[in-house]
Amino acid sequence: MSGANGAGIRVTVDGSPVEVAPGSTVLEAIRAAGGSVPTLCYDERQAPFGACRVCLVAVAGAPGPVPACTTPCREQMQIDTRDDTARRVVRTIVELVLSELPVAPAPHTELARLARELEIGAPRFTGEVHAPRLDDRHPYLVFQHELCISCGRCVRACDEVQGAFALTATGRGFHANVTAGLDAGFRDSTCVSCGACADTCPTDAITETTLLNLAAA
Ligand code: SF4
Ligand code: FES
Repeated sequence: MSGANGAGIRVTVDGSPVEVAPGSTVLEAIRAAGGSVPTLCYDERQAPFGACRVCLVAVAGAPGPVPACTTPCREQMQIDTRDDTARRVVRTIVELVLSELPVAPAPHTELARLARELEIGAPRFTGEVHAPRLDDRHPYLVFQHELCISCGRCVRACDEVQGAFALTATGRGFHANVTAGLDAGFRDSTCVSCGACADTCPTDAITETTLLNLAAA
């Protein structure tokens, strides 16, 4: 069912009414209302994936928090971006993601900005961290596999934006990662060196060789 004029869907975001186009997601409604929620696996240039659960919000009547980036709006939906449970779960998710990295993400990265936004300080969780694994065989791109948080953005950038299909998600849980080609590395994959993967990566796991060299200088 659409809004009164038949054009849109009417929802509220933290009590403020907003009308969005049919098919809009909760995240789009939040942004249309001038609000925001953190995201991590979301890149507006790609189809939503719903992998990280960092965009959780509460919706009246739902049994628990829902991911804003993949949940479609319904007429009269009441969205709460400040829900305590959602905010607590999101913070814990990001802390767990950070706890698996051998080093803190560089300050300019999206993950580091997210940690600052959520005011995550000293690690609460300690456990197994990813061992360094570097693929620097490509002339323009470097893959530091240990910084990969398996958000899938590089894979989707390669498939959806470039159509090169050079990257594949591998493994599960702690062992989830991304491989180039048939594990032959970027250089020997179908990579066309467009840099879309490095551009979207929120941790700099994939980065351009020149940028990595500059950071090390
Ligand atoms: S390499 Fe970067 S963009 Fe790709 S899955 Fe890992 S963290 Fe995400
Ligand atoms: S940003 Fe929505 S699930 Fe990752």
